[in-house]
Amino acid sequence: MKKAWWKEAVVYQIYPRSFMDSNGDGVGDINGITSRLEYLQELGIDVIWLSPVYQSPNADNGYDISDYQAIMEEFGTIEDFDRMLTRAHELGIKIMMDLVVNHTSDEHAWFVESRKSKDNPYRDYYIWKEGKENGNPPNNWGACFGGSAWKYDEQTRMYYLHLFAEKQPDLNWDNPKVREDVFHMMNWWCDKGIDGFRMDVISMISKVPGLPDGDMQGGLYGNGSPYYMNGPRVHEYLREMNEKVLSRHDLITVGEAAGVTVPEAKLYAGEDTRELNMVFQFEHVGEGAGKPGKYGKWDQEKMPLSEWKAILSKWQTELEGKAWNSLYLSNHDQPRCLSKYGNDKEEYRIISAKMLGTCIHMMQGTPYVYQGEELGMTNAGFDQIEDYRDIESLNIYRELKSLHGVPEDVAMGYLKKVSRDNARTPMQWNNSKNAGFTTGDPWIKVNPNYTEINGEAQRRDPDSVFSYYKELIRLRHEMAIIVYGTYQLLEPADEKLFLFTRELDGQKLLVICNFTEEDVVTPGSALELMGEDSEILISNYVHRMDEVLRPYEAVVYIVGNTEY
Ligand code: GLC
Ligand code: CA
Repeated sequence: MKKAWWKEAVVYQIYPRSFMDSNGDGVGDINGITSRLEYLQELGIDVIWLSPVYQSPNADNGYDISDYQAIMEEFGTIEDFDRMLTRAHELGIKIMMDLVVNHTSDEHAWFVESRKSKDNPYRDYYIWKEGKENGNPPNNWGACFGGSAWKYDEQTRMYYLHLFAEKQPDLNWDNPKVREDVFHMMNWWCDKGIDGFRMDVISMISKVPGLPDGDMQGGLYGNGSPYYMNGPRVHEYLREMNEKVLSRHDLITVGEAAGVTVPEAKLYAGEDTRELNMVFQFEHVGEGAGKPGKYGKWDQEKMPLSEWKAILSKWQTELEGKAWNSLYLSNHDQPRCLSKYGNDKEEYRIISAKMLGTCIHMMQGTPYVYQGEELGMTNAGFDQIEDYRDIESLNIYRELKSLHGVPEDVAMGYLKKVSRDNARTPMQWNNSKNAGFTTGDPWIKVNPNYTEINGEAQRRDPDSVFSYYKELIRLRHEMAIIVYGTYQLLEPADEKLFLFTRELDGQKLLVICNFTEEDVVTPGSALELMGEDSEILISNYVHRMDEVLRPYEAVVYIVGNTEY
């Protein structure tokens, strides 16, 4: 397998709005990030993925960009950005920018022009269509944030396509001028010295010509995704991007690829396909997997561990040597992984957070840590709709109640478990007011458990989740087997344990994770490998106990006492 620095790196995602506020306005900002870079250096991460900091009216917290070459006023200035970048580089930390180019804001100059008239030079920067004869939208697609994917525009009496919110019109990638402008903008950032791009919904940039109706799924709208996910020209466009931008700089690139399959991923992230370094796939977090709910992810049942393991193992083994994996359990669009896959009850919180970290960090791929995950932060689960800020959550709440007649408490129950705001509450720095995030009023409520769960306490505590993550990251940096070793799943049908091995150059690791709050007897297959002369590399319990695995126990053995 080819070696590369980005394969050996650990990435840390910052959601700037919620990371650190430097001026007391309740909104996280760039100077706040700069002030906390030493914390990240201590954790040991190599790269920051910075969620969008560009100028934006914030319909979707920065994922609706009105100027790609300016910084959002609330976040600071371009000088603040340059200072942050310089300081990060001094500390040995690289910065990967979020690149949101499937759509812009409707306040972007291109769209302001585009909507003016049918013959405006920017008209074809977006996807405009006449309505149907009866005045209905051009097709039946639903938008990802609810409602139709089409918005009627009075000015020219035509509809524009928005796969997300109304204020996020989709760019027309079939127009070479769009691609040229996007690539130009990317090169501008690269020349500034940034180190990579995380590409927002990049699998959606190419739409099937004619934009055919999708199958109705019981709701009001058709499913357009077969016509815009992994569309006909997406690989062509990414190869062009690679040629004109990516290959000219030394970057880390990851594509957010909803709907991606293994064969598709081998194109997006193939060793020799000249597109991207890796993609985020979504199956293990529930996309197209598990028992689908009536309302999609909102009422989806938790999938059995065996299914979850099968998904992750498929990605591990099928990309091996051909393409590269990203490894993640959380980000700003998912509920907190500890609440979803672990156990956020007081007695299991720390132990299960460490278990999840072990499971994901011991796989092959580039791990991503989402801010606060390294502290074992939990879902906020707000009880009142007034406390939610996320456009997706607010839209679905309205739709569930008014269109589907879902009772108030049931709808709130969904939000409490699944809302993206669960991951967007302020970073918990210390036990002072507002968790040390701001001296003002935070834009979204702080999770009240900050008095227990916070960075300051955990940095001092060798047994904290923070210290454990630090160790996981250190081990990855020291041991090639953790980065490059071949993965093999053991006991695929076991519904309580996740067991796998890694192998490289005659070395072997055995990884054991108990996903339950019960004692579980260690299977023979594992005992055999553990043997007598195996050594513990890392574990979330102090004392060794081979025969039985304790609640949420995680342990990694160096099999047969191989030196490392
Ligand atoms: C991606 C982002 C998400 C955003 C959406 C639209 O999925 O991660 O936060 O809302 O794209 O840009
Ligand atoms: Ca601020």
